[in-house]
Amino acid sequence: MCGIIGITGRDDALEHIMAGLGRLEYRGYDSAGVVIANSSASGMDDGQLDIVKRAGKLANLAGALQGGSLTGRTGIGHTRWATHGAPNDVNAHPHTDPSGRVAVVHNGIIENYQALKAGLSEREYASATDTEVVAHLVAEELDRVDGGDLLEAVRRVVGRLEGAFSLCFVTLDAPDTIVVAKREAPLIVAHADGVGYCASDVAALIAHTKQVSALHDDQLARITPDGVEVIGLDGSPAEAHSYEVSWDLAAAEKQGYDHFMLKEIHEQPQAVLDTLRDRLTDGKLHLDELRTDEHELGRIDKVFIVACGTSLHSGMVGKLAIEHWAGVPVEVEVASEFRYRDPILNPHTLVIAISQSGETSDTIAAATHAQDQRAPVLAIVNVVGSTLARQADGVLYTHAGPEVAVASTKAFTTQIVGCLLVGLYLAQVRHAMYASEAEDTLRRLQQLPGALEKVLELDGQIRDLADRYKDVHYTMFIGRHTGLPIAYEGALKLKEISYLHAEAFPAGEMKHGPIALIEEGSLVVALAPEGHVFSKMVSNIQEVKARGASVIAIGTEGSTAALAEHADHILTIPEASHELASPVLSVVPLQLLAYHVAVALGKDVDQPRNLAKTVTVE
Ligand code: M6R
Repeated sequence: MCGIIGITGRDDALEHIMAGLGRLEYRGYDSAGVVIANSSASGMDDGQLDIVKRAGKLANLAGALQGGSLTGRTGIGHTRWATHGAPNDVNAHPHTDPSGRVAVVHNGIIENYQALKAGLSEREYASATDTEVVAHLVAEELDRVDGGDLLEAVRRVVGRLEGAFSLCFVTLDAPDTIVVAKREAPLIVAHADGVGYCASDVAALIAHTKQVSALHDDQLARITPDGVEVIGLDGSPAEAHSYEVSWDLAAAEKQGYDHFMLKEIHEQPQAVLDTLRDRLTDGKLHLDELRTDEHELGRIDKVFIVACGTSLHSGMVGKLAIEHWAGVPVEVEVASEFRYRDPILNPHTLVIAISQSGETSDTIAAATHAQDQRAPVLAIVNVVGSTLARQADGVLYTHAGPEVAVASTKAFTTQIVGCLLVGLYLAQVRHAMYASEAEDTLRRLQQLPGALEKVLELDGQIRDLADRYKDVHYTMFIGRHTGLPIAYEGALKLKEISYLHAEAFPAGEMKHGPIALIEEGSLVVALAPEGHVFSKMVSNIQEVKARGASVIAIGTEGSTAALAEHADHILTIPEASHELASPVLSVVPLQLLAYHVAVALGKDVDQPRNLAKTVTVE
């Protein structure tokens, strides 16, 4: 999705804006632009807003800026993921009013932009975007506001906007000022060493400061070299949510790996360790950050898990764990569907919303829908201080650190661990498990990081398989019980970064239809770790093998003999110390397979086509 960075108070503003945009590239975008408020050096004229924007990658913008003379202490940069209008130079942000007095960049969607245009006198628009009309409106309002105050002009306009957005403005009238507004799309502000900042994501600012403030919905801010002033939509002073970012610049860099995705796959042992750390006190599981009353959780009689994409797949493992350990019925639902039906919710229904970013608009909307009906929401989130983390009644942070690659990997394994922790915690507060049993299970989960290190040793074997099967036209992933969510995840990973056709099915469903797809040359990846459905999986593998498929099986040390008879290749993972934890290990070979296939096919692994890291629009 789109990215924003604004800086005011630095002579080298442009250089730092470009560096910040570089750190936002991972979000996915198709054009980029900058505006620098170039106040007249002589003071004899009004100066100008210098704008350069280009379709395509940031390198195109950098090329266009080369040799230019964009100087000024205040500026904004933007990476655009097209929603209204094609991804070309003209539709790239920033946009201005016709006189070039106000420039704006925008993340999100202005839903009523057509109506707003209709309300203005007839005029020409340079672009096909929903954003440009906002610059027109603010410029008009500036004429009406006492002293041409940009913050007040923006406040008046934002009150008329519908949709989800973060907006960032500069004007020639106050060239050392940036004004921002936020509704349902993330925006942070900061001030350090005489420089004011704003950004859609802490990654853009981490080189400058770790002390940031996240604006709440319908808050606006005036950012100058002297500080940050936050107000509400009614104009009264307001407080943003201030916090310290817990990771540093090094965590947001590739550190010698060819791609962020590979680096993040290899960070999983540490990420899982960090997520499990310090959970046990006096033999009891403690989830201190949960913020949710133990007794309230003890009375829960139904759980919904809502999430999107990879996070949804972790929720499918969560369902198995919560039902098994805590004995509460769980439904897992795609967040984008949840609010459009009538889920039966009440104060005894716990809604668990899972999100790496904490900014996915569908997941946030599902959480809001639940809260509107007084159902408590527990968020399992990676990004500290994100919208979902703040909105939820309780939060469990996964400690995966920043995840940059669009394809989610370490966030997924830590989300599963988060779900296992919640399952054990619910079992504990509901007295569904002996305390000693919960403690023993948690201690056994501590073996996961070491086991993950062993799984990563499969890398070379998997690279060879990727070379061999990269041209296969169809790949089917099959699994049962804990293997099924991993089959879904394996198929999603492969398709999103290699663009190959991949699907996943419950292995038991094969003979009800999908097996008709299997023919000579098909590839089947079968999740067959040790567990109570192992022998069923062996039968399913035989069925696809008999119809001409090549089979890669994921099996567990000590139980691969039966697989060896039927599968063409076996990727052997260590035993998982608990059957419900095996997905943390079994997914890693599939992440590596997708990675190596995409590399072998020459795809853009970290920024696959059409995808964004954080989906902040519906
Ligand atoms: O930030 P979230 O976890 O809420 O994101 C949800 C999905 O958009 C995300 O998992 C997506 O499916 C990934 N690209 C998968 O690799």
